[in-house]
Amino acid sequence: MEAGDIDAVVSEQHYPDGRGVDFLKQMRVVHPNTIRILVMETVRRDEIVKLINDAAIYQVVGAPWEPEQISLMLKRALESRELARRHRYLSHELKFADAVLHRQNDSMTRALQETYEFDKLVFCSNSMAKLCNQAKKAAATDLPVLIEGETGTGKELMARALHLFSARSKQIFLAQNCGELSDSLLQSELFGHKRGAFTGAVGNRLGLFPAADGGTVFLDEISDISPVMQVSLLRFLQEGEFKPVGADQTHHSNVRIIAASNRPLSQLVEEGRFRRDLYYRLRGLELKIPPLRERPEDIQVLTDYLIKKYAEKSSRRVVGISAEAMQRLKCYDFPGNVRELENEVRRMVAMTESGAIITVDQLSPEIAQSRPGLQNLRGIELPQGEGFTLKRTVEFIEAQLVRQALHRHHWNHSRAARELGLSRVGLDNKIRRYGIERATDGVTQNG
Ligand SMILES: Nc1ncnc2c1ncn2[C@@H]1O[C@H](COP(=O)(O)OP(=O)(O)OP(=O)(O)O)[C@@H](O)[C@H]1O
Ligand SMILES: [Mg+2]
Repeated sequence: MEAGDIDAVVSEQHYPDGRGVDFLKQMRVVHPNTIRILVMETVRRDEIVKLINDAAIYQVVGAPWEPEQISLMLKRALESRELARRHRYLSHELKFADAVLHRQNDSMTRALQETYEFDKLVFCSNSMAKLCNQAKKAAATDLPVLIEGETGTGKELMARALHLFSARSKQIFLAQNCGELSDSLLQSELFGHKRGAFTGAVGNRLGLFPAADGGTVFLDEISDISPVMQVSLLRFLQEGEFKPVGADQTHHSNVRIIAASNRPLSQLVEEGRFRRDLYYRLRGLELKIPPLRERPEDIQVLTDYLIKKYAEKSSRRVVGISAEAMQRLKCYDFPGNVRELENEVRRMVAMTESGAIITVDQLSPEIAQSRPGLQNLRGIELPQGEGFTLKRTVEFIEAQLVRQALHRHHWNHSRAARELGLSRVGLDNKIRRYGIERATDGVTQNG
């Protein structure tokens, strides 16, 4: 027994020699993580606590017992051990681990739903209101959901909200980032593996799909999965079955899949990098979270909400934010979306004295510079080094602005000229002077 990896031991206690317990005590030393179950003819109440403590016994079963009862108990024990493992793995994301704990407490779940508009998603824009309405309807079905949106738009938050509003809310929600594991590790994380399936596979692993049976699995960054994984996943979505790595038999699990991607999957399908059939399966329902810059009205409510959140966390009394600072936030285009706003607010709260309000001075430079009517300079290259006099630098930037305007107007000269405040002839002169050609128009348009 010392040589192998043992998941569980069922030992029978015989009176009066008591060997069953001695054996389990030894097991505890050699295999501390093994699940120990003791079966006894007569359970003596006075002894039972001592027995359980001595050998760290998972459960004591008294006669008469049914084989099925033991088998079910083993199944539960193995499941909860797997869940504990997953939980440890996930708990570095403390806030999200919190959410799992909350769910186990019904009254807290209700409190959560009352405090926020859609679980933890805060918003006031019409576009988000519409999306969350759609999401509530999606939650009521059991269809797979595909969530798309730029980084930091709240895809994971949305996935958790969907689960919480679904019929599976009492069951577990498990998340897996598909982008961060190698193919084989991802296979065994999701489907489990048999002992010895590969080097280092010392024990059986249950895997996410069986562990979340009855619940929801969130597959983040789904666009990153390999072609092999795409096939396995398609099979699971079609048949509800999967094969643990190294196993011969297929297993079944009833989980709802929510997937997320920050790149449009349809585009990857067009490029032949993602299976079309899998795309259609995943997209039982589709939710597209708009970037923050397309819903600037949310910036205000989010900022207020986040100031309160971080002021409470750091026990500071931050009274609010000045109108001017808020104005600058609203003009900024937040390429990192809500996550970027959240980081900004967290930093500002930390820098603001207790009892004070946040002012423009606390904003980070890029945001402090944003003004209404100012086109921000993303996508514009600034030259550096010798030879770039003021005149040459200005011309360099001018050429890029002209090229961008032409691109925006699909090379319609009249319209581009109007936007730039130039005459047609003036624009044509600049095009000639800077040697701007349509063929070299490689600009990626800003926003
Ligand atoms: N509407 C919102 N209300 C409150 N907080 C939000 C909202 N949207 C996003 N957040 C917060 O912004 C951060 C990023 O959200 P989340 O992790 O869900 O984004 P994501 O779309 O999964 O990003 P990525 O693609 O980079 O993984 C989180 O801290 C989340 O709490
Ligand atoms: Mg995410």
